[in-house]
Amino acid sequence: MKVGVSMNLPDLKKAKERTSKPVEYQCQELAFDSSFQGKKYFLRTYGCQMNEHDSEEIKGILDFYGMIPCEELEKADVILLNTCAIRENAHDKVFGYLGRIKHLKKERPEVIVGIGGCMSQEEGIVEEIQTRHPYVNFVFGTHNIHDLGRLLSNAKKTSQEIEVYSMEGNVYENVSYKRDSKITAWVNIIYGCDKFCTYCIVPYTRGKERSRKMSEILKEVKMLKEEGYQEVTLLGQNVNAYGHDFQDGTLFSHLLEKVAQTGIPRIRFVTSHPWNFTDEMIDVIAKYPNIMPYIHLPIQSGSNRILKLMGRRYTKESYIELFQKMKNRIPNVAITTDIIVGFPGETEEDFQETLDVVETCQFDGAYTFIFSPREGTPAARMRDDTPKEEKEKRLQRLNERVNFYSKQKNEALLHREAPVLILGQSEKDPKKVYGYTDTMKLVNVDAPQSVIGQIVPVLITDAKSFSLDGRMVK
Ligand code: SAH
Ligand code: SF4
Ligand code: F3S
Repeated sequence: MKVGVSMNLPDLKKAKERTSKPVEYQCQELAFDSSFQGKKYFLRTYGCQMNEHDSEEIKGILDFYGMIPCEELEKADVILLNTCAIRENAHDKVFGYLGRIKHLKKERPEVIVGIGGCMSQEEGIVEEIQTRHPYVNFVFGTHNIHDLGRLLSNAKKTSQEIEVYSMEGNVYENVSYKRDSKITAWVNIIYGCDKFCTYCIVPYTRGKERSRKMSEILKEVKMLKEEGYQEVTLLGQNVNAYGHDFQDGTLFSHLLEKVAQTGIPRIRFVTSHPWNFTDEMIDVIAKYPNIMPYIHLPIQSGSNRILKLMGRRYTKESYIELFQKMKNRIPNVAITTDIIVGFPGETEEDFQETLDVVETCQFDGAYTFIFSPREGTPAARMRDDTPKEEKEKRLQRLNERVNFYSKQKNEALLHREAPVLILGQSEKDPKKVYGYTDTMKLVNVDAPQSVIGQIVPVLITDAKSFSLDGRMVK
């Protein structure tokens, strides 16, 4: 297979580097290629909110080229997969898709296929694409989405092109997103991660922690408000770290307060690390009614021994203390979490401590995962004797308790009123609409379609494990 003109392979060692090189703040600039006008694109997105938002950038670029979205893989002229690398099953899904694409390329070799996202930042994966999937036209990473236009134009002239940069990363402004919603919007505030939790691939795939300038973030939020958006979610792998890289005393609490003062009706943020969640942050959340009383606070494990092996920088006791402080100071706050079971060396006693924390905190919800070794991370090299079956049993035992409390929290809302931002027609019942409470609970609501895009009072009439039913209060 002939290789493309500029081959730039991912490099895990380089991706790990953190130097004192200053962050460059650049503008997204797109060159126009009219040959894509009217062509159809198919885009699949995997992974976290950050990837969803990156896909909004990808769609913005394709839109600029005059391309049209298409839901049927077989009818598309351009196929793009924006991938995730967080756990093994994320890979499986992508390679499953590649099977279908390979078949399609045999019938229509002119179809252009590009793979981007976090998986592209992994050495082993790119090798696999090079050797086993030569029909993929190009591979790009998380640092060069803005170059997608050039890669697309090149794809017609060259064979497989790999352009993945393993770098600390820069910040691009003036990005034109094609947003999925007219009601809620993602806003990046900090890119990358420097925490290097021992199980996690993100610091390698997304570069170092680098904040966007506060003025740019506020400009974006104000613009969204003027456009009629009801809600913004401030995005970062660890939003608490916002501003630290400026080294001028700027903190997330300052940003959050300024965003609240724009008057946008609803503000959310993800994700918060329990390690440096400050009192000032709690105070600001409690002070402003437009900052939603909902915090996603991943604990990962309830065992101090495992937390240490994970490199999480807090203990079970300090987590619970923070949790209680939030509950005491933020009225009506809902708190959800992430938990990993079967981390290398996790014993039944360690796992029992995780269950104990679930009993203590009684989370509103939890995303639970079995540990998945990621090549290049320290945890992937740790000794792991627990059989898969045992890990699966632990996950089941954990989910049983987590779901019990989710349902209980939902039931506590029965016959009460909650403010719900209505997002669209309900999938379950087309006569209903759906939306989220301030505390981030999904509600199917008896209300006319005309209230889509509004925050309305809803009386909760039924509570299930993962959703609520309700009727709009006139
Ligand atoms: N930045 C966020 C997490 C992003 S990844 C934070 O620190 O909270 C989302 C979740 O995926 C993590 O919270 C963790 O629970 C899970 N996760 C990450 N790496 C994993 C791995 N190797 N195996 C299993 N779960 C993992
Ligand atoms: Fe991964 Fe830890 Fe960074 Fe979260 S804080 S993205 S779990 S390294
Ligand atoms: Fe996945 Fe990358 Fe997000 S690994 S979870 S898409 S940061």
